[in-house]
Amino acid sequence: MCGVVGFVGVRPGVRVIFEGLQRLEYRGYDSAGIATISGGKIHAVKSDGKLLRLEPLLHELPESSFIGMGHTRWATHGAPTTQNAHPHLLGNLALIHNGIIENYRELKQELIADGHVFSSETDSEVVLHLLSRELKTTPEIKGALLKIIPRLRGAYGLGIMWGGEPEALYLVKEGSPAVIGVGDGENYFASDALSLLPLTKSVIFLNDGEIARLTKSSVDICDFSGKLLNRPPSILSWTAASAEKQGYRHYMLKEIHEQPAVLANIIGRLVNPLTGAIDTKQMGIDDLDLAKIRSIVYVACGTAYYSAMISKYSVEQFIGVPVSVELASEFRYRDPYLDPSTLVIAVTQSGETADTLACIKHAVARGCQTFAICNVQHSSIPRATKATLYMEAGPEVGVASTKAFTSMVLCHYLFGLGIGQKKRQIPADVYEKAIQALKQLPSAADRAISTAGLVEDVSAKYYESGNFIFMGRGPSFMVALEGALKLKEISYIHAEGYAGGELKHGPIALVDKYMPIVAIAPLDSHYEKMISNVEEVRAREGLLIGVGDLHDERFKNLCQDYIACPQISDAALQTIVSVISLQFLSYYIAVKRGTDVDQPRNLAKSVTVE
Ligand code: AGP
Repeated sequence: MCGVVGFVGVRPGVRVIFEGLQRLEYRGYDSAGIATISGGKIHAVKSDGKLLRLEPLLHELPESSFIGMGHTRWATHGAPTTQNAHPHLLGNLALIHNGIIENYRELKQELIADGHVFSSETDSEVVLHLLSRELKTTPEIKGALLKIIPRLRGAYGLGIMWGGEPEALYLVKEGSPAVIGVGDGENYFASDALSLLPLTKSVIFLNDGEIARLTKSSVDICDFSGKLLNRPPSILSWTAASAEKQGYRHYMLKEIHEQPAVLANIIGRLVNPLTGAIDTKQMGIDDLDLAKIRSIVYVACGTAYYSAMISKYSVEQFIGVPVSVELASEFRYRDPYLDPSTLVIAVTQSGETADTLACIKHAVARGCQTFAICNVQHSSIPRATKATLYMEAGPEVGVASTKAFTSMVLCHYLFGLGIGQKKRQIPADVYEKAIQALKQLPSAADRAISTAGLVEDVSAKYYESGNFIFMGRGPSFMVALEGALKLKEISYIHAEGYAGGELKHGPIALVDKYMPIVAIAPLDSHYEKMISNVEEVRAREGLLIGVGDLHDERFKNLCQDYIACPQISDAALQTIVSVISLQFLSYYIAVKRGTDVDQPRNLAKSVTVE
């Protein structure tokens, strides 16, 4: 979850490292620090809180720091204090860590018994002490690392600097992401390629079990047995500008607005505009053995999980095999039944979510075919699956997922359609209907964007409410869940999403004249039933905010406030359009409440710990 950055070159590096951390701050933002080497000595500054609090301390680092590394933390072990902030220092050694050392307690006890004194409550500091002890008998970093690594259990992306080798940075990867940037007369490392974009597009993604040594002119990689490896760089396709705010007040707002173009790009890339044929090769479908697939299991977390739930309404219909959707954090621990006839699909924006990755490793071990629907290229999950469909939505920086959600829903739909096409099992009229709905999607999303002003007005009426209920039926139930999650995470308002039919089985007890209820009722086959649920709420004086068709006077008349939402002819794809209104609703409510929209408290964009 933490962000790590390293720099080694021939120019002053403090600013380069700080700016690298700024681009990574979405990974964690409860404390930060930078260490450099100058004159053979380690110098460091650290602060609790966000990077803004670290910035005034940067002048304390020597100008002539041509090598250094920084860290932005999401606390796991130990409170978010300056003392627990990384880099951790011991003698002439500095260490930063992304991940968790699971056996840190026993290691710490052993080290304390050996006379070591700890200065933080973190799990990470044990690695520093182990390394420092080892350096007394193995006086070079690589050799010492090879000796201590077998003692570590857990996940780690480690950055290490030592005054005894002042020209080199070390990077160690096991379980946590780590990428090297190859520059011209300088080299870098980071926990996320996004951080490197303005510096270089030439990158090497370390694999688990690898150590890299970086100097200004060389990158040497070996495995945990010390064997040297030849790892040529790959080239990133994202541009630095795509990761900027581009004039928007927040990344989230920019990413909401990007959706029509992102959706149009995905369709343009994967669907032939003349024939309607799906490009199954580019989608990774051709890499799967379709004849073997008897069932599909989606694994995902958070927003990605909700997107996958919508696939039940598209993929199952197109492919004709049972689809189940599992929370990755639960699935991996219940020893699920899996056999080689199951296709396991990981859905993930970052490609780094620890629980989702663990599910894929489990599925591979059970002989299943595995597939990823992912946004970040070269990330860990696509590297672990047999094939991948990249969303290519561009960098998503706001912690609250917006364009990734809608891209995922679209990709599930196209994936189902692609397999159905390849297996020749979708009736021609069904296929044609799907293609027509896809054609309507980008412009419907665009019209949904144009309701921003209206949604802002609605949000002004409700932003002080302490609770919200969202409800929908069919695929719109997932819109309700996603709408509630968005509101919770960026405005800190308690919100729950319910299936309309479930309300009367308990939650309706919460409804009174103070409770805002967002009802999503598009013109689909669930409409009549949903209107009955709306009536039930109205009879109990709930404050109804409707999300439905512009011309639906019947629904509109039942609601205190109404957000007109463009309609398209497919219920699964309609979720993409409906959710845009709810993204705006949570955004404007959060802005009015003055929360940190892009970096809400306690959260991190990539959840790389379990
Ligand atoms: C949603 O707004 C969150 N950012 C979160 O639920 C996220 O979707 C989840 O952590 C999964 O992340 P992933 O898509 O990168 O795997």
